Amino acid sequence: MQLTTEEIDEMIDTANDIIANPDQYAEKCKRKKLATLFFEPSTRTRLSFEAAMYELGGNVLGFSEAQSSSAAKGESVSDTIRTVGAYADIIAMRHPKEGAPMVACRRSTVPIINAGDGGHNHPTQTLTDLLTIKREKGHFDGLTIGFCGDLKFGRTVHSLMAAMSRYDNVKFIFISPDELRLPEYLKEDILDPKNIEYVETTDLEDAMPQLDILYMTRVQRERFFNEQDYIRLKDSYILTPDKLTAAKESLSILHPLPRVNEISTAVDDDPRAKYFEQVRNGKFIRMALILKLLEVK
Ligand code: NCD
Repeated sequence: MQLTTEEIDEMIDTANDIIANPDQYAEKCKRKKLATLFFEPSTRTRLSFEAAMYELGGNVLGFSEAQSSSAAKGESVSDTIRTVGAYADIIAMRHPKEGAPMVACRRSTVPIINAGDGGHNHPTQTLTDLLTIKREKGHFDGLTIGFCGDLKFGRTVHSLMAAMSRYDNVKFIFISPDELRLPEYLKEDILDPKNIEYVETTDLEDAMPQLDILYMTRVQRERFFNEQDYIRLKDSYILTPDKLTAAKESLSILHPLPRVNEISTAVDDDPRAKYFEQVRNGKFIRMALILKLLEVK
């Protein structure tokens, strides 16, 4: 939300240039330090940030769970951030509370990157998704994108639909159980003001033939209040090769990962499965983001 569409497009171009000419970027962040403060579990996001900083010639410090930081002693996010800002040039943080990175950046002397805040947003996953879509499709305009699974708590969905709504003639199909529909505030804040076309359905197979992008998501167990609800909803959608027979040849299947069982491993060999490509793209777009925020030419 804090980036213009031009800035997003520029970062995508930078990421593509990094992919083509990695050696030219190897010393760009020499002596710079990135802190990764993860108050919530992560594999891809934290490690891709760290790999990104190393590939730029910089260094990394941080923690990967709240229990190993002073948060366990009761320290506030603001105080942790002010402390880490004394040691690092840039901070990527993930926190289970919605809005924590916003609070953090009010007190920070260095740039803060939101690496996921509760069930709210996950903007750097969105940059990863956009880079993947651009590389696969060559453009954003006119695409029909189906979001499937937990659209209520899935923060990657919230950020990506907001980003995609910037482009022309994008159509959204939101596929979820009734209980896990996209939150109303997103329809009111993002879709309605721009009169963006969208459909809500519970039926993946019905939507399949229309899709250019299928964005599968995991049911977010850690955000449920009641384990019974999770158990009832967790297997709502399982993508199998069978269900893909009705899909376009040109479909791209994305998933932010981790996958639980919503995509059968038999789909991995389908040339339309792009989720491991997406993982790879995550490192390059985060390199582009770090360069931008540190104002490195
Ligand atoms: C996502 C997240 O953390 O929100 N994972 C990721 O960062 N790639 C998706 C998820 O956890 O389901």
